[in-house]
Amino acid sequence: NPHTIQMEGNSVLRRDNCRAKGGSAGFKVAILGAAGGIGQPLAMLMKMNPLVSVLHLYDVVNTPGVTSDISHMDTGAVVRGFLGKDSLEDALTGMDLVIIPAGVPRKPGMTRDDLFNINAGIVKTLCEGISKCCPRAIVNLISNPVNSTVPIAAEVFKKAGTYDPRRLLGVTMLDVVRANTFVAEVLGLDPREVDVPVVGGHAGVTILPLLSQVKPSCSFTPQEIEYLTTRIQNGGTEVVEAKAGAGSATLSMAYAAVKFADACLRGLRGDAGIVECAFVDSQVTELPFFASKVRLSRNGVEEIYPLGPLNEYERNGLEKAKKELAGSIDKGIAFVRK
Ligand code: NAI
Repeated sequence: NPHTIQMEGNSVLRRDNCRAKGGSAGFKVAILGAAGGIGQPLAMLMKMNPLVSVLHLYDVVNTPGVTSDISHMDTGAVVRGFLGKDSLEDALTGMDLVIIPAGVPRKPGMTRDDLFNINAGIVKTLCEGISKCCPRAIVNLISNPVNSTVPIAAEVFKKAGTYDPRRLLGVTMLDVVRANTFVAEVLGLDPREVDVPVVGGHAGVTILPLLSQVKPSCSFTPQEIEYLTTRIQNGGTEVVEAKAGAGSATLSMAYAAVKFADACLRGLRGDAGIVECAFVDSQVTELPFFASKVRLSRNGVEEIYPLGPLNEYERNGLEKAKKELAGSIDKGIAFVRK
């Protein structure tokens, strides 16, 4: 593929024993949608991750520039760019982890579900490529609406006979990152010391922070609970409005995506006790997918934790979340089955 060769960088003068093939220890990671608002800072941060030996950057536009730029960073990962759908299979072959931030973001006044018509088709196509070229890869799905795109991916993998529910994770880490930040602000703590479980899904009322389970253990007034829950649920909209038409969260999302991808890679490496929240195939509720704390291992999701004790406010929130989630999940499944 001419694009692949051209985009491996201009360094034609290279000794035979060089590590440009990325054969050293470490994982092979592809980013699909790598030239976008999330994709670019995500590519930069993944190039800095010592667990990554090969980084494939795929998009339908602008990958040559992004690849050239990122490839000059003096960190370990070998970077290769892939432009356009004819290069999707080359981009995916041999990957251990595929991160997907491809698709359109929200503009002011839009819900995540308004993105369904465009992003559903994009995710379907990309997942068909994954079943064909790297069916064992861990998939981190960022494209919205996550509550529907994860069921879409699962249906595509089922159709292809490659579905392993442990390897498909919807990225809800940004909700956790926001919750940690906003709770730390209220408590006057360093956000690095705060751990807020956020369960349910990734849109509006489906985002359910469990403030009764915050670590370090603490208590909130009813006003604080109302303020924090609303702010965490609307964190994305806060950014969309501030950007006023120029997109949605990209920098904090890239940070959250890397935090999550790094946890997945440490799981793949065999590290013990890696626990993060993610939207996964789940039996925690009666719904087929749900976000909650999961333990990551060499196989992806090794264990899904139950929600733990909820207070009345959270139980009410859970009922609302489940109602909306059920519709979004069905919509995703129907899109592939139709
Ligand atoms: P963007 O528009 O800046 O970038 C998207 C990139 O995807 C573009 O470079 C575009 O060329 C590319 N793309 C479009 N079709 C493609 C295809 N068929 N194959 C490969 N690449 C393709 O958008 P941004 O801000 O990077 O957001 C991307 C997605 O992430 C949106 O759906 C957004 O809603 C979602 N998002 C998810 C969050 C989460 O917490 N899970 C948080 C923030 C955004």
